[in-house]
Amino acid sequence: MARQGSFFLKSLVLFLGFVGFVPFGAKAAVKKYQFDIQVKNVSRLCHAKPIVTVNGMFPGPTIYAREGDRVLVNVTNYAEYNMSIHWHGLKQFRNGWADGPAYVTQCPITRGQSYSYGFNITGQRGTLWWHAHILWLRATVYGAIVILPKQGTPFPFPQPDQEANIILGEWWNTDVEQVINQANKLGIPPNMSDAHTINGKPGPLFPCSEKHTFAMEVEWGKTYLLRIINAALNDELFFAIAGHNMTVVEIDAVYSKPFSTQALLIAPGQTTNVLVQANQNPGRYFIAARPFIDVPIPADNKTAIAILQYKGIPNTVMPILPQLPSPNNTEFVMSYNDKLRSLNTPQFPAKVPLNVDRHLFYTIGLGRNPCPTCVNGTQFTASLNNITFVMPQIGLLQAHYFNIKGVFRTDFPDRPLKSFNYTGAPLTANLGTSLGTRLNRVAFNSTVELVLQDTNLLTIESHPFHLHGYNFFIVGRGIGNFDPAKDPAKFNLVDPPERNTAGVPTGGWTAIRFTADNPGVWFLHCHLEVHTTWGLKTAFVVEDGKGPNQSILPPPKDLPPC
Ligand code: C2O
Repeated sequence: MARQGSFFLKSLVLFLGFVGFVPFGAKAAVKKYQFDIQVKNVSRLCHAKPIVTVNGMFPGPTIYAREGDRVLVNVTNYAEYNMSIHWHGLKQFRNGWADGPAYVTQCPITRGQSYSYGFNITGQRGTLWWHAHILWLRATVYGAIVILPKQGTPFPFPQPDQEANIILGEWWNTDVEQVINQANKLGIPPNMSDAHTINGKPGPLFPCSEKHTFAMEVEWGKTYLLRIINAALNDELFFAIAGHNMTVVEIDAVYSKPFSTQALLIAPGQTTNVLVQANQNPGRYFIAARPFIDVPIPADNKTAIAILQYKGIPNTVMPILPQLPSPNNTEFVMSYNDKLRSLNTPQFPAKVPLNVDRHLFYTIGLGRNPCPTCVNGTQFTASLNNITFVMPQIGLLQAHYFNIKGVFRTDFPDRPLKSFNYTGAPLTANLGTSLGTRLNRVAFNSTVELVLQDTNLLTIESHPFHLHGYNFFIVGRGIGNFDPAKDPAKFNLVDPPERNTAGVPTGGWTAIRFTADNPGVWFLHCHLEVHTTWGLKTAFVVEDGKGPNQSILPPPKDLPPC
């Protein structure tokens, strides 16, 4: 308590996190950024350690652009780790070369080398983010992408007075690469993070918090647009602001039907834009983020805290704590997810595929494989349709584009070879998981429905799945086993949420639909980094179309060699 007392009495350095609207010109422009990957000593929780950063910043710089702009980010790697950067949620039409996942669309940028990511922002506006897409480096290498609507195009909701980015993350006191390498060697799950963070800062529930609390000042009567991003590696998070309701207006850079809520759930990879009105008793209010976990695995209940402070209120006023849903509140999560709907107006229609060309059904499995050198004689593994994905040595997109044989196969099965009671009693037996770099081939412009089914192999758990190169519609969701005879009748084909990352509920399923109109090789993976590491990933090869603008663009000259 002494620690907290001293915290409240000390005057906090207020970091003003708001930016006004960036006064861009009316015409589409080229926005240029230089990202220097460099190691910097950063201290949190009374520990200092070298971390990999962009331009020495943690979180990294925000990319600002408008819909229709071209963005050029030249990345120069001065760090000892190989690097690649992913622009999470940008569709990269015909342009997988700029997508970024290492060994999927490019080989890494090695030390001393540069690569320039160039992409157009077409038909998208809202909040996205960028992060390292190699090893576990995204633990510290991440930042926001803010795409404003075209000049003169208003938001489809009341114009806010100001806006701020809120990036949620995780912090380890030790080197994250050591954390995951050690865990892999021993065959056990990696150590939990030491803190959650809001804009890189853990807040007063952690030691040495004085300088490490994010605070933002608001003026009574004004409306704020908060762009919330979950950049955490392994935790879905609840988020709330004491005393203030939030109006959700956009998810994953897609406008949604507005609704008011006391708390929200955000999975790793997802973004949520909310409007907040500073209309309460002027004072100090805590902003909090804490994990949602509805399975009995070692619980991580650390709460990251920031402060919303009304102008003119002294730092000595004790802030008020928000009410977060309890960590295992599945019911809250279900009802929150049910409220997420596409805006679906003439200007922003929900173009849900109504007829399906390809029905895919992928089971999500965790497991243990024999490992004589590991602590328990086993190591953790994960699979889709019982296949644990093996990363190749060269980029899958190169192998596809240049027709290099022997890198991957396109025989990933449309459904599991053996069906079983997916969500019945715990299945500890390994169902014969195999290793492979196996992808699914999809015809250009075909409509795809993918049902992701959680299983009770080892344990049920929720999994936020991310598809590169596309947005998709979440047409259905349920608990238990997906029933192809009954469940499709309940699908929402009118205004389902459109996203790039969808949660698969614990012991349940999620059905997504998309039109495969973007040729390339597109990664599909769980955005819990620990599961991706264990092999919970695959990719789609979307073939070229016949038309003039329906094939993969030629690779840029500076594409990193392998
Ligand atoms: Cu945000 Cu493949 O990742």
